[in-house]
Amino acid sequence: MYSRIIGTGSYLPANVVTNAELATRVDTSDEWIRSRTGICQRHLAAPDQTSSMLAAEAAQRAMTAAGVTPEQIGLVIVATSTPDFIFPSTACLLQARLGIKRSPAFDVQAVCSGFVYALDIADKFVRSGSCSHALVVGAEVFSRILDWNDRGTCVLFGDGAGAVVLAASDKPGIHASVLHADGSHAGILSTPGQIRGGKVTGDPFLRMDGQAVFKFAVRVLDEVGREALAICNMRPADVDWLIPHQANVRILEATAKKLGIDPSHVVITVDRHANTSAASIPLALDLAVRDGRIKPGQKILLEGVGGGFTWGAALVEM
Ligand code: ACO
Repeated sequence: MYSRIIGTGSYLPANVVTNAELATRVDTSDEWIRSRTGICQRHLAAPDQTSSMLAAEAAQRAMTAAGVTPEQIGLVIVATSTPDFIFPSTACLLQARLGIKRSPAFDVQAVCSGFVYALDIADKFVRSGSCSHALVVGAEVFSRILDWNDRGTCVLFGDGAGAVVLAASDKPGIHASVLHADGSHAGILSTPGQIRGGKVTGDPFLRMDGQAVFKFAVRVLDEVGREALAICNMRPADVDWLIPHQANVRILEATAKKLGIDPSHVVITVDRHANTSAASIPLALDLAVRDGRIKPGQKILLEGVGGGFTWGAALVEM
């Protein structure tokens, strides 16, 4: 028994903020942001839009593409670091929004690796026979945890959601999936605020050592990509499309170069979406499926890396 992706969907909030618009609010420039990150614009959620709302739009599109009804979904996982509430989980809120009854529903918190973590877990549920169809979503409103006075971080992120429906199949869809974490690197990327006594204590904004993150990300994306390929006895040349987490175009280019994958085989959305954390991989996947680049039978290497630190990869046949 295997699991296959049978439908993809995504959603971006309507409000597009260009680098030039950001430069009117913080001391930055279009040229600085483009040359260091490749980012040209980002979508930002409206004040009343939450992760579960973005997730519901993306999930609905994925379920329509898959041709499945809410009754068929036997598992809901949402990868997010920006949940609607402390609890209930965003997955439970999403489940109710979609009219899915009784299936298990829970969030996965692995920051920008969240989608590959959630996909791996869902694959194991489907392969074990626990459910025939699983909904896996990455949804984020990172704009809520950014310090809009910190030009070193606020220019890098955007909001959005992406989703896939997995179905049981006798043909392999997810060929291999590898996850890792190393909590000793927690300090280079974190949002260390806490809620205590009814108040937020500590720093509730995202903080990052950009250069340390850059070096770590490129190293582990190369290593974990090779690890996933080795499990399948595949080489980088067998990969039709590389979809790494969309943090920064220079990280994407360096990763592709290290892996020996031609840049023309990398799906890039960071220019238009910026970094949408757990949403970035399913957003990029959906975009490339819908614009016809990704075709049935092709092999896709998905790779995530994020706070924790966490990282992982999945080799998926569409
Ligand atoms: N606009 C203009 N100037 C800026 C900005 C900005 N938005 N941000 C920082 N600067 C300035 C700094 O103040 C500094 O000025 P100084 O030399 O006068 O002190 C100068 O630019 C260089 O700053 P650095 O932080 O050293 O810039 P760097 O070349 O490292 O680029 C960047 C920063 C783009 C964040 C880079 O480190 C990077 O790409 N890191 C990867 C991190 C990343 O993508 N994180 C995303 C989240 S993590 C994840 O998703 C896995």
